Amino acid sequence: MPLKTAKLDAQYANIANTSLLELFKSNPNRAEQYVIDTGNLWFDYSKNRVDENTLAALVNHAESKNLSGAIKALIAGEEVNNTEKRAAWHTALRDPQDPTADKEISAALTKIEGFVEQLHAHKWLGYTGKPVTAVVNIGIGGSDLGPRMVSQALSAFHAPAIDVFFVGNVDGADLEDTLASLDVETTLFIIASKTFTTLETLSNAESAKQWVLDGGCPQGELHKHFAAVSSNIPKVVEFGMAEENIFPMWDWVGGRYSLWSAIGLPIAIAIGMDNYRSLLAGANAMDNHFSEAPLSENMPVIGALLSFWYNQYFGASTHGVLPYAQRLARLPAYLQQLDMESLGKCVNTAGDAVDYTTGSVLWGAEGTNGQHSFHQLLHQGTQLIPVDFVAIKQAMSGYEDQHKKLLACCISQSQALLQGKTLAQATAELDAQGLSADEVAFLAPHKVIPGDRPNNTIVMQELNPENLGALIAYYEHKVFTTGILLDINPFDQWGVELGKQLGTPLYEAFVSGEINEDWDASTKSIMSKLTQ
Ligand code: F6P
Repeated sequence: MPLKTAKLDAQYANIANTSLLELFKSNPNRAEQYVIDTGNLWFDYSKNRVDENTLAALVNHAESKNLSGAIKALIAGEEVNNTEKRAAWHTALRDPQDPTADKEISAALTKIEGFVEQLHAHKWLGYTGKPVTAVVNIGIGGSDLGPRMVSQALSAFHAPAIDVFFVGNVDGADLEDTLASLDVETTLFIIASKTFTTLETLSNAESAKQWVLDGGCPQGELHKHFAAVSSNIPKVVEFGMAEENIFPMWDWVGGRYSLWSAIGLPIAIAIGMDNYRSLLAGANAMDNHFSEAPLSENMPVIGALLSFWYNQYFGASTHGVLPYAQRLARLPAYLQQLDMESLGKCVNTAGDAVDYTTGSVLWGAEGTNGQHSFHQLLHQGTQLIPVDFVAIKQAMSGYEDQHKKLLACCISQSQALLQGKTLAQATAELDAQGLSADEVAFLAPHKVIPGDRPNNTIVMQELNPENLGALIAYYEHKVFTTGILLDINPFDQWGVELGKQLGTPLYEAFVSGEINEDWDASTKSIMSKLTQ
């Protein structure tokens, strides 16, 4: 069931039968009015089923949820995660000037800086005395997706001294394929895990340790090949990590918000400290916008309200993110954790079952590849699927003309979703091709494209650390705002735990070959198939 209010119902009744094209017609200034420019990002939300009255009602709705107070609490590091009784203070990590922020933050940054400098200067030596030239980050979820996505996105800024790799999956093929091209003597592993209890990460870490030992490294020299990022120091020490190689993390940093902490170490190694600080600064600029701009001119707030509007009133159950940039290919995967791990909840903050729709499915892929795959459904499918286009003004390769084509494709998709194609247009096109009247009558309906499909366009001047930082922070705050609108805690993820709990006895069954008779019939059948 959707979450509706009488005031929003009235707005829906007003606008439900007005098309986007009619909205543009009735307000010639719409394209200029429905834009938010934060400096790093330019956000066009004019192609949405809203007018001034709808927006005012939506903002009003946000105010009724005390969104402004919630934003203040978030930025001040208050206990906004009520089930785990902690702050979600990732904003403090990108604001080193904040006098209230913990001193440990700047100490951690200094430690990261020293480590990066040593690696870049080829002064970090492996057990044979050769400098380390490859770093493998072993982590999963928030300890992988953010650093991996950002490192790929900013490949133009990579320092040549070190190659950075990522291993996440417990499928040993991930580790094995990565190690195939690496040399033990010149490889360093970062074991990234907030809890240091995660099955995938610990399994890969143990295998990596064995690989280094098998490669001839004496036990006593393992510290030359391993570093860790974690908030669970005793567990890291138990693994055999040298204490000086442990980078701190804190319980007030959520996993999916942790790339701003030392979990971002592989990013800093890949792009260098100056660029890493620019990434933090870009996110900080978005934090300032989020906490200072009025709700009606606030990019994350407007983004969240629009998604809320479509989910609750138009039955939208998915949201697409379509970056027209090859190097942002991993952005949707990163955003999936951010959005769906945060908003996939079925109880409100008080623990009562909700009777309304909460999180929706976030998905996407880089343009133009998606155009030749799933865009058909966006154009002619029956569901309303709002999408965000991300366009980068400056070319990201030396092939300048291809960049013009890339941008033209991006805008053409946004335009097509808005305009569609009428039966009259389709008929005229077919007539012009010289088809017979019967053929035209048959084909024309197939060529009709409904249009009137909402979409946003986010433009950045250049794919650089600062703009990327702002983009990530935009989506983080959009998710936070949605959590407030839905009255759910976006900072816990208890649903993930059950699979982890059930996984242990199943693993034991694989080792022992013994099937538990208490399992359900399907589990027993699959286990028999896989073990016998
Ligand atoms: O999958 C659940 C989760 O807890 C994520 O929230 C987290 O990012 C990931 O596992 C990895 O956790 P850790 O960093 O503790 O290994």
